[in-house]
Amino acid sequence: MSVEINENNIESLGEGIQDLSRPLKQRYRDLFTLKNIGGKIAIDSIVACITTDPSALFKHECAYVLGQMQNSYALPALIKTLSDPNQDVIVRHEAGEAIGAIGEQTPEVIAALTEHLKSEHVEISETCQIALDLLEWKNKDPSKQENLTGSADYKSVDPAPPSVENDINKLREILLDEKLSLFERYRAMFALRNIGSSDAVLALADGLKCSSALYRHEIAYILGQMQHEAASKQLAANLMDLSEHAMVRHECAEALGAIATEDCMNVLKKYATDKEQMVKESCEVALDMGEYHSSDQFQYADGLS
Ligand SMILES: [Fe+2]
Ligand SMILES: [Fe+2]
Repeated sequence: MSVEINENNIESLGEGIQDLSRPLKQRYRDLFTLKNIGGKIAIDSIVACITTDPSALFKHECAYVLGQMQNSYALPALIKTLSDPNQDVIVRHEAGEAIGAIGEQTPEVIAALTEHLKSEHVEISETCQIALDLLEWKNKDPSKQENLTGSADYKSVDPAPPSVENDINKLREILLDEKLSLFERYRAMFALRNIGSSDAVLALADGLKCSSALYRHEIAYILGQMQHEAASKQLAANLMDLSEHAMVRHECAEALGAIATEDCMNVLKKYATDKEQMVKESCEVALDMGEYHSSDQFQYADGLS
C-alpha cells in the first residue's frame, strides 16, 4: 500500500471497517491496515465494530487485532467484551486472549480474568487460565516478555512463550498430554511452530484430535501461520467434520487459505456455502487470502486469528 497515512485516512479506514455494505474481505484488509497504523483513532473504530458488528467472525478478529496492537488503551473495551454475556463465546475468548497479549497486570485485568475462570463456557475459562498463567510467567522475569515476539519468522504476540525444549518427539508428547496444563502444552505448540520442519508440522497436526476445542483451534491457527502443505489434509478433515466446533472449523478454513494449494482452495470453495455462518464467512475470507497469497498488493501480515 502506498497510501500516505494521516488522521483523515485513519478515520476513513475506521469508517470503512464499520460499513456493513462493503464486502467482508475488504473490511478485513482495512482492519489489518489499521492494526499496522495503530493509535487511539484506529483502536476506537475497531472497538466500535466489536460493539455493533453483526458478524461474530469479524468481531473476534477485531478483538484479536486489539491484542496484537498491545496498546493498553484498549483494555477497558476488552474487559467489557470478555464480561459481556451477550457477546459470542469466540469474541469473548479472543478478548480474554488479547488482554493477556497486552500483558498489563492491573487489578481490573486480574479481577476480570479470575472471575471468568468459572465461566460456564469452557472456551472462556480455559482462555482466562492461559492468560493468567502467561501473566504469572511474565512476573517471574519481566525481561522474558520479549520471548513472546522473539521468533524471527512469526511476529504475532502469542498466548504462551515457546518451550525451551527442542526435541520434536518430546514436544509432541507434551503437546498431546491431556494431563498437563494448556499453558504448558501451548508452550510445546509454539516451540514446534518455531522449529517448522515437516515432522514438527505432523506432530502439531496430531493435536487436531485433542479433546479441548480451544486447543484444536489454536493448533489450526498455528498451522495457518506455518503455511505448510503437510498439514492440509488434517486441516481439511476438521473443516469437513460438521460435528466439529465452529471455532475450530473456522480456524482450519483460514489455515487452508494460508496454505493455498489448489486442493485447499477447492475445499474452501465447497464450504463457502456452509450452514454455519462463521464457517461460511471464514471460507470467503480464506479464499481471498489464498488469491492474494502470491500478490504484493496486500499482505494479511502475521496471520488471521
Ligand atoms: Fe482464538
Ligand atoms: Fe479465529
